[in-house]
Amino acid sequence: MLKTVKNTPQAPWSPESWTTKPAKQLPEYDHPEELKAVVETLKNYPPLVFAGEARRLKKALAKVAAGEAFLLQAGDCAESFAEFHPKNIRDTFRVILQMAIVMTFASGMPIVKVGRIAGQFAKPRSDNNETRNGVTLPSYKGDIINGMEFTPESRHPDPKRIIQAYNQSAATLNLVRAFAHGGYAALHRVNKWTLDFVKGHPLSDRYQDLAHRLDQALAFMAAAGITAENSPQIQEVDFFTSHEALLLPYEQALTRIDSTTDDWYDVSAHFLWIGDRTRQPDGAHVEFLRGVKNPIGIKCGPSLSIDDLMKLLDILNPDNEAGRITLISRMGHEKIADNLPKFIRAIKDSGNIVTWSCDPMHGNTKVSSSGYKTRAFENILAEVKSFFAIHHAEGTHPGGVHLELTGQDVTECVGGAYKITEDNLSQRYHTHCDPRLNASQGLELAFLIADELHTNYKRRRDLASDKISTES
Ligand code: PEP
Ligand code: CO
Repeated sequence: MLKTVKNTPQAPWSPESWTTKPAKQLPEYDHPEELKAVVETLKNYPPLVFAGEARRLKKALAKVAAGEAFLLQAGDCAESFAEFHPKNIRDTFRVILQMAIVMTFASGMPIVKVGRIAGQFAKPRSDNNETRNGVTLPSYKGDIINGMEFTPESRHPDPKRIIQAYNQSAATLNLVRAFAHGGYAALHRVNKWTLDFVKGHPLSDRYQDLAHRLDQALAFMAAAGITAENSPQIQEVDFFTSHEALLLPYEQALTRIDSTTDDWYDVSAHFLWIGDRTRQPDGAHVEFLRGVKNPIGIKCGPSLSIDDLMKLLDILNPDNEAGRITLISRMGHEKIADNLPKFIRAIKDSGNIVTWSCDPMHGNTKVSSSGYKTRAFENILAEVKSFFAIHHAEGTHPGGVHLELTGQDVTECVGGAYKITEDNLSQRYHTHCDPRLNASQGLELAFLIADELHTNYKRRRDLASDKISTES
């Protein structure tokens, strides 16, 4: 069933109309005039992305919604000023590409690649304050807002941080664009990365086999005259950026009218999402995002009601445009089976077009006995597998995954082929917020997701051949 689009008149919108609505999670700055000055400065800064690129991503996501592509959205939980280094950017970019290649081979579908990068700085927190040894200070809310160090000075929200976050995002994006289009991402380089990466890795046989098959495919294509010189698809990738649209003054300052369409776009990233804690239909974050034309995500946790979801879709996608909305379910491995099917059915019944993605990270966070926030690889995998099984049962497309990972060899999530234990967590626990998969765990998860995608692929192929045989 396709939704009947109601042409209900919309209330007027402007980049600052969110200020008239209740806003959760925003910091209180001591000197609002300092914030205002920062916003005014940023309004004159160049866009980080172009509206045409956001439209291209929306089209790619429409293909995901139609079951013809798969979304891989991944990157940092919270980017930080301290960890800003080209090596970190390169390694995250590289592991996402490696994962995407594994998934492309397995699924026979294009993989839409979106980084949590070049702007993922603001964090929603469950508690406004943190208490340590009897001292209470504001919680750390991401480097764009305050500092992680537990001192009153550092935890004080400082608007100047917004400019630093913008500058870091611009420099990060510059490097990412160079990697994506300057030859670094060329398919034939995958062998070199792979060999370096999988040396001694428990999964090396499997990965090398795939790299070998990819190499054969490239050799075949070269023999047929399709080379990096005449086919940019082999040499370049489309790589998009995303972050949570949490710190609205920053988003507002980077919202501009696109001269080709006269529409508003938030040019801080291609894709913005609304967090699970800020998705109130009458709240400031929803108000802001309804007016920009970027593709957007909505985090859907167990506390979301069907009624609110329907309201959100009416507000955020009144024209039922394909590719506009990605629903990112983050239920937790124990709750997904009870929660996701009813949302899928409600969406099917309402005729709303959405892209379904699975965030198996945020519903599976726990605290280790030694006090580290961690996530178990097996729980992450269990949620992804349930996501695929539920969509299969409902006859819908499991469109993508949303992951927190880094290209570095950190020890933040337990489990995986290297069997990281709770005792190992203290060795390289570098995250500024939530525990991330390391490069090896990310790649391993890609192989396991690839198995699910391959099963789906075979189903699609069998269906197509059944159709051909009944038609012929
Ligand atoms: C996040 O993606 O970093 C996040 C905080 O997620 P959620 O809003 O789903 O908790
Ligand atoms: Co997180």
